[in-house]
Amino acid sequence: MECEVQDETAIGEIQSKKPVLAILTIEDDAQLFRGNRTNFSDLILTGREHGFIVYVLTVKHLKLSGNQLNGFNYDHATESWQLQKFPFPDLIYNRIPLREDELLPGVRRKIRACLHNPRVTLFNPSFFNKWSLFKWLRQSRVTRPFIPTTRRMVSRQGLGKMMIKHNFLYLKPISGKAGKGIMTLRLQPEKQFPYKLKIQADKKSITYNCGSITKLWNRIKKESTGERYIAQQGIQLASFNERCFDLRALVQKNQRGQWDISGIGARLAGTLSITTHVPRGGSIDDPERLLVSAFGQEEARKLLVKARSTSLLIAKQIERGSGQSLVEMSMDLGVDSDGNIWFFEANAKPMKFDEPDIRKRSLERIFQYGRFVVKMKSK
Ligand SMILES: Nc1ncnc2c1ncn2[C@@H]1O[C@H](COP(=O)(O)OP(=O)(O)O)[C@@H](O)[C@H]1O
Ligand SMILES: [Mg+2]
Repeated sequence: MECEVQDETAIGEIQSKKPVLAILTIEDDAQLFRGNRTNFSDLILTGREHGFIVYVLTVKHLKLSGNQLNGFNYDHATESWQLQKFPFPDLIYNRIPLREDELLPGVRRKIRACLHNPRVTLFNPSFFNKWSLFKWLRQSRVTRPFIPTTRRMVSRQGLGKMMIKHNFLYLKPISGKAGKGIMTLRLQPEKQFPYKLKIQADKKSITYNCGSITKLWNRIKKESTGERYIAQQGIQLASFNERCFDLRALVQKNQRGQWDISGIGARLAGTLSITTHVPRGGSIDDPERLLVSAFGQEEARKLLVKARSTSLLIAKQIERGSGQSLVEMSMDLGVDSDGNIWFFEANAKPMKFDEPDIRKRSLERIFQYGRFVVKMKSK
């Protein structure tokens, strides 16, 4: 009899065992850890509502042996982070915020160890770089039509050749983000200074008109400060009140383990900017409103459906190309004035979406998919 009771308790414990998700980031001397603290506390709160134990785990505290780890909990009452002991995680959600931190040998070693450790599932192994994304998406006939022509920018000759085909180009750092280092190049052969180079500064762009390709190349080299770049066919984006706009899709795996759209937002470029980023004078808008204004009701509806299906195809191909299991990504998509959809980039660590409905869904999906993974593992 006694024995039976003990068994029941044990089973009860197993059944009530909460799934554990650790948000992985890197330690920081001045502020305990790096990363977006609001995002982390939102994740902790949402995770709790979904019956998870959630904490912030630094690379330093991540030890793959052992059953307990030191982690940070957010105390809402005191609005402070506290170091506590937590159970070893079932899921590790990689939110290391900077590429350079993720590339540190010690960090890479631990990420690799996580990928090989059957006790834990790592969500989002690393950042993408823009060149790999294009290589992967070119490999499939399904995704190729959405990719602007893209080359690595390595020589003056190569750039010259590309300009013969495309008189409008975007030059972008391979590991760039938030518009940093982006330039556009327009060839206007009839002009005395035929090469018009625009460089993204804080909220505006600076223009250089160059008379020869050698002068142009020297200027580009000077501005690109040793970074590796891609040169990409420029797309004439659809516009609203003479401001260009593009779409931001958030694609995540859902409670059935399938890729799903969590939401699509739109960004209107600042009047003086060559990108649509909000910190560069861009603004958030409703995709339907912008598309209806540019293309009319019927076409706008079709375009939104197409943007959704295209985002899913692209996410699947990126996952295939990367050779790793992924959980989420955001995507920048352009719509040209003829209503074609173009892929610009995907981010493996999406920034917070400011649209409240997308934001809410994005947090929930992490735990819905997380539960799916934990259930599959226990089978
Ligand atoms: N080939 C292109 N044609 C037209 N616009 C582009 C192109 N590439 C980028 N853009 C614009 O610049 C923005 C930033 O480019 P993106 O590749 O997303 O770089 P970042 O990593 O800096 O965000 C895009 O959201 C889009 O508005
Ligand atoms: Mg972008």
